[in-house]
Amino acid sequence: MIWNSNEPPLPGRPYDIRLGSQSAVATVTSIKYQINTNTLEHMAAKQLPCGGIGVCNLSLNREVAIDPFHEPPPTGSFMLLDRVTGRSVGTGMLNFALRRSQNIHRQHVDIDKQARAMVKSQKPAVLWFTGLSGAGKSTIANLVEKKLFAHGQHTYLLDGDNVRHGLNRDLGFTDAERVENVRRVAETAKLMIDAGLIVLSAFISPFRSERQLVRDLLEEGEFIEIYVDASLSVVEARDLKGLYKKASRGELKNFTGIDSSYEAPNSPDIHLKTEHMSPENAAETVIQALCERGAIR
Ligand code: ADX
Repeated sequence: MIWNSNEPPLPGRPYDIRLGSQSAVATVTSIKYQINTNTLEHMAAKQLPCGGIGVCNLSLNREVAIDPFHEPPPTGSFMLLDRVTGRSVGTGMLNFALRRSQNIHRQHVDIDKQARAMVKSQKPAVLWFTGLSGAGKSTIANLVEKKLFAHGQHTYLLDGDNVRHGLNRDLGFTDAERVENVRRVAETAKLMIDAGLIVLSAFISPFRSERQLVRDLLEEGEFIEIYVDASLSVVEARDLKGLYKKASRGELKNFTGIDSSYEAPNSPDIHLKTEHMSPENAAETVIQALCERGAIR
């Protein structure tokens, strides 16, 4: 693959892929090595710079027909596009389909999501709280969970700080690690939805592309995006964990809102303007909105 974007390919981030007349959603699951274009030497690499050429594994969301590039090139080449801007970010030649793509099949199970949800008398979904650190995601999600629980709903709260102590303890806060953080949480939420649960997730989840990935991973209506909106000046003033002070002193790198970006949702399903409401009001607003959407009884 020849990478031609200033932003490096982030393993786990979804891109649109075009293969001749076919299209799908692809992620770069791993970058095997980079090729030195002067010497053709293989160089160890985790990233591809703009103009860099590398050998990668790709994973697609559906089956496509391909050929090795050296046979008929039109069905052996591809183009990757940024899903938000639609711009081409990479082009490449296909070598072969990984053996695992043909050897791992989906196993049928008789007790399915519908059955598990029916026994709990609820519609499984994920309430995806996104917003800056300190905006109130965890506080509001916790209150919403208590209200749902009090009404006999079966819930589970996935919280950024907690998940980062276990499943995602190996991840830091670079863009690539945040993409992987959200990807793993998305897969976990999908399993819990399959178990029939109403999942609440409280992660900064700063990038639109990965929030779209969660939406795409789930069925229509299962992903409910809740924007916990508080301006940077307000969360900096709150600074409950003292992290904004540390970040502004330069003691904490890649801090969201300071030296790492946050892409606010363009059209969230629920928009909580927390500067003008108490956490209790915000939680009640969520419950009302869920009732109106028919997501809960
Ligand atoms: S995310 O961006 O990858 O979605 P996540 O929600 O899991 O972030 O974790 C955010 C929490 O980690 C914050 O609430 C904060 O307590 C802590 N944290 C530590 N370092 C950072 C950082 N550099 N940027 C943002 N949050 C950080």
